[in-house]
Amino acid sequence: MSPDRPVAMFDSGFGGLTVARAVIDLLPNEHLVYFGDTARYPYGPRTHDEVCGYAREITEWLVETHQPKMIVVACNTATAVALAELQSLVDIPVIGVLEPGLRSLIEVTVTGRVGMIGTVGTVASGAYQRLAHDLASEVDLTCAACPGFVEFVERGETRSDQVHVLAERLLAPMREAKVDSLLLGCTHYPFLARTISDVMGRDVVLVDSADETAFAIQRSVAALGADRVGGEPPTRRFVSSGDVETFARLGRQLLGPELDTVEAHQW
Ligand code: DGL
Repeated sequence: MSPDRPVAMFDSGFGGLTVARAVIDLLPNEHLVYFGDTARYPYGPRTHDEVCGYAREITEWLVETHQPKMIVVACNTATAVALAELQSLVDIPVIGVLEPGLRSLIEVTVTGRVGMIGTVGTVASGAYQRLAHDLASEVDLTCAACPGFVEFVERGETRSDQVHVLAERLLAPMREAKVDSLLLGCTHYPFLARTISDVMGRDVVLVDSADETAFAIQRSVAALGADRVGGEPPTRRFVSSGDVETFARLGRQLLGPELDTVEAHQW
């Protein structure tokens, strides 16, 4: 496989930029294509079939349009319901964010009482609960959905009093369960890390899936023998199904200067 094929990733919106940031930092020579489905976010409250359908449509579009070396599902909701289906749909590796994040959580905990917060769809799918049972049945995992968090991030509102009040309410089960570490099981949530940490207390370790997913991507690229080691500077393309001006302005704020222009894609 040609090293010049890009790593392609997608999310419902801005959340996957947390994973894109980690990939740019760990694999600075790789070409990258990022698709944010902002016209159809949030995925969390949607049905299993809707999210699977979107994930399939985006994956097929990325493969046909960009010929990537792999697909990264930089969205917990889509990973939870569609990963296996996407893996059988295309003949390149498809990497999700659940397992990397959960493995980090299991490594970090001291007491074995751990938490996971995610969208309604992710929590209801039971995917984290099943995976935790398979990977480390001894850990005591408490899960809670945090409806509303994603909308705050998509509005660029990551530190307001309103999001703090919502976090106080939604994170109450985590405080009651006395977890020592908390997995941010939605790729949007790292943008709310300060607020979440203010509510949980500084002694609770927040874990996100971005870095571990980037390591999984690095291993997969190496296994393909398709690492891009140098040459021309890499291209980073960002595509949105929603308003491109908003995506460029807010996306740059969240990801950094690599997010320059944004291309439009209409379904
Ligand atoms: N960032 C995504 C996730 O990790 C999707 C959030 C949403 O659109 O509800 O679950």
